[in-house]
Amino acid sequence: MNSFNVRKLLAERVSLMASSEIRELLKITEGRKVISLAGGLPDPQTFPKDELKGIISKILQEKGDKALQYSPTKGIGELRGELINFLNSRGVTVGDEDDIIVTTGSQQALHIIALTLINPNDYVVMELPSYLGAINAFRLSAPNFIGIPLDDDGMNVSLLEVRLRRLYGEGKKVKLVYTIPIAHNPAGVTMSLDRRKYLIELADRYDFLIVEDDPYSSFTYEPSDTTSLKNLDRSNRVVYISTLSKILSPGLRIGWIVAHNELVNVFERCKQSLDLHTSTFAQYVSSEAIKTGIVKSVIEKARAIYKRKKDVMLEALEKYAVPGCWWSKPVGGLFVMLRLPREDLNTSSMLFRAIDAGVAYVPGNSFYIDGSGVNTMRLNFSFPKEDEIAEGVKILSSVIKSYLNA
Ligand SMILES: Cc1ncc(COP(=O)(O)O)c(C=O)c1O
Repeated sequence: MNSFNVRKLLAERVSLMASSEIRELLKITEGRKVISLAGGLPDPQTFPKDELKGIISKILQEKGDKALQYSPTKGIGELRGELINFLNSRGVTVGDEDDIIVTTGSQQALHIIALTLINPNDYVVMELPSYLGAINAFRLSAPNFIGIPLDDDGMNVSLLEVRLRRLYGEGKKVKLVYTIPIAHNPAGVTMSLDRRKYLIELADRYDFLIVEDDPYSSFTYEPSDTTSLKNLDRSNRVVYISTLSKILSPGLRIGWIVAHNELVNVFERCKQSLDLHTSTFAQYVSSEAIKTGIVKSVIEKARAIYKRKKDVMLEALEKYAVPGCWWSKPVGGLFVMLRLPREDLNTSSMLFRAIDAGVAYVPGNSFYIDGSGVNTMRLNFSFPKEDEIAEGVKILSSVIKSYLNA
């Protein structure tokens, strides 16, 4: 067979498509005896398999013709209605069904936002660190990223204001700010209420959109105010995205966007060309799971499991502590960030030693759009079992010690 040069035929934007480091990692660890502290998978114990069995057969019996059919791009009415009730009960007020569109996971929401709102060279603010999947989705639109560091109170909004003022002085304008205000991935922090209010004020003053990504507000482990930016927003500038991935099942691929209805109409047009609509069947299943209280009980169960696992990880980090290392004490979410003592230490190059020793993590550098964070790593505690977390941290500590002494 004649071969041809595939690379020569690729569109230029392919060079902007970073492959997810996490997915590459999962490939390396496949089939090996490695404790993975890498992904961000929910604990399968939280999957309500028996309850879903009942729902699925009921849907097939009673609504099979509709559930297996094509359906509207914005999502089926039943699910949009249930999502509105669910969000309202959790303090995210949604006006009506015109303000919400169902997406294929919130990853598709990020992709739709990138395609419809970001032009090449637009200024887009991301937290340092930020969610890798958002960085990769936005990168496809070739923006100029601006990184704003986080501390224990979330994004440093005062610093954002300084940067905004400087840019505006140069005649430049920020298009959008992407943030995970509650239970941040990967940092594990929640933005203080004062900063949330300040950010909304800046959005009005400097005329930018806020993309609020909220997959983890169900998983906060200490009493805290989780008022959404969406609810603080008086001028409908917040594009709020969330997902059932961590509170029901990621395999169903159900996410959504709540925004100004004119934006939702644009998102609908974009989604039409991506996949026509999100799986009708998964939407019916999800709608029933919310209506019958299954999602609420998964949240309760999962929160208790993740809180315990978080404590196991923190105890192990304390027990096997490597002098000079710092790690976060997450107030929510599924991750701990760990930093090695010196900036010249590189967790990407240490990873292969770690995998050989039997533990995997995600090098932190991929979460920083400014190329920093090379001496950091992200550790997940939701998926591994409690004894694996303790063992994984023990192995990791000895790998770090030998790396520091090399
Ligand atoms: C902050 C954040 N946003 C979006 C997603 C994507 O979630 P999904 O596409 O499964 O809804 C994730 C998944 O881990 C996440 O952590």
